[in-house]
Amino acid sequence: MKTDSVVKERYAAANAGEPALCCPVEYDGRYLKPIPREVIDRDYGCGDPSRYLREGETVLDLGSGTGKICFIASQLVGPKGKVIGVDMTDDMLKVARRNAPVVAENIGFGNVEFRKGRIQDLGLDLELLDAELKKRPITNAASFLAADEPAEELRVKRPLVASDSVDVVVSNCVLNLVNEREKARLFQEIFRVLRRGGRAVISDIVSDEPVPEAMRNDPELWSGCISGALTEEAFLQAFADAGFYGMEWLKFETEPWRTVEGIEFRSVTVQAWKGKQGPCHEHRQAVVYRGPFKETLDDDGHRYPRGQRIAVCDKTFRLLQNAPYADAFVFLEPHEAVPSEEAAPFDCRRAVKRSPRETKGADYSATTEATECREGGCC
Ligand SMILES: C[S@@+](CC[C@H](N)C(=O)[O-])C[C@H]1O[C@@H](n2cnc3c(N)ncnc32)[C@H](O)[C@@H]1O
Repeated sequence: MKTDSVVKERYAAANAGEPALCCPVEYDGRYLKPIPREVIDRDYGCGDPSRYLREGETVLDLGSGTGKICFIASQLVGPKGKVIGVDMTDDMLKVARRNAPVVAENIGFGNVEFRKGRIQDLGLDLELLDAELKKRPITNAASFLAADEPAEELRVKRPLVASDSVDVVVSNCVLNLVNEREKARLFQEIFRVLRRGGRAVISDIVSDEPVPEAMRNDPELWSGCISGALTEEAFLQAFADAGFYGMEWLKFETEPWRTVEGIEFRSVTVQAWKGKQGPCHEHRQAVVYRGPFKETLDDDGHRYPRGQRIAVCDKTFRLLQNAPYADAFVFLEPHEAVPSEEAAPFDCRRAVKRSPRETKGADYSATTEATECREGGCC
């Protein structure tokens, strides 16, 4: 099925607040006030990823539609932050671009721009490609095949969204609209554009069972966010396959939004992080999983039994100190730091206990007076 054209036609023709294209979402009213009515009326979202944004962040909204999430994000990240919306449908971009100066005027600063592209190919600026193809129109098989050259050149020299350039990728009810064959590439593109330590916060529709072939081939169900929905498990796995870690449901509606032929479709918001890749070095650090579960497992396969000092490499030690894990662990540094130039490679494939002797040093034999307890007097 030609999913892109089906989706474009449907959203170009959509009327204000068409119920089959969205499920009711409650946005924070404070941030809706400066946004013109024609943007809010064409709300086709199913969640609100913007509520997880912070001041100063650079945000990319995939499938930005008429711009509602971008305009909310704009206020949340403030004048030091930046927001980029990407959409492939001209009619949506037109409404979003028309309203950007209006919102900027209402809030006192402008930090939003809208770019034309397909979210599974965030390297390719479709407006720049349009300009290139005007110079060399496609008239036969040879020019059709040659059209790939300027596209490839644009991806490299003038990418729509550069690699490692974004703090947070958000999206509201769009990933399901990308066809099955290009889904893996979509998740790889989200990973590519995020900086190390960045995160994806995605609201979308997922199904509790796989969507059968007949339903997947129904264009009406496609553009209505049903047919392309991944199962709950496949959605999380797609992030893992692209290299993300720390996936977590920030929202999981227990009530389905729609049920079709017994399959439940519900709205979820997931968060996933970039930054677990890289070399592992031994700095004699240990972490202790605080509980309450008997043990826990991270996305690199490290197992942390509750209460045990587990040896980790410096990269994992730092990763666990930040969101989303920080509160789950105690962090133990060696008494004598290991300088980077002396740190040996660390075999991260297995979890082993770290002897306290390794942390303190084999010759450690100090005897000390009781230290003062932080919470006021131990014994
Ligand atoms: C369900 S609407 C959601 C719009 C917006 N996020 C909101 O919350 O109202 C889907 C939007 O994604 C766009 N879209 C769908 N597939 C796309 C793709 N592959 N690349 C870029 N935009 C896409 C459509 O043009 C439409 O504007």
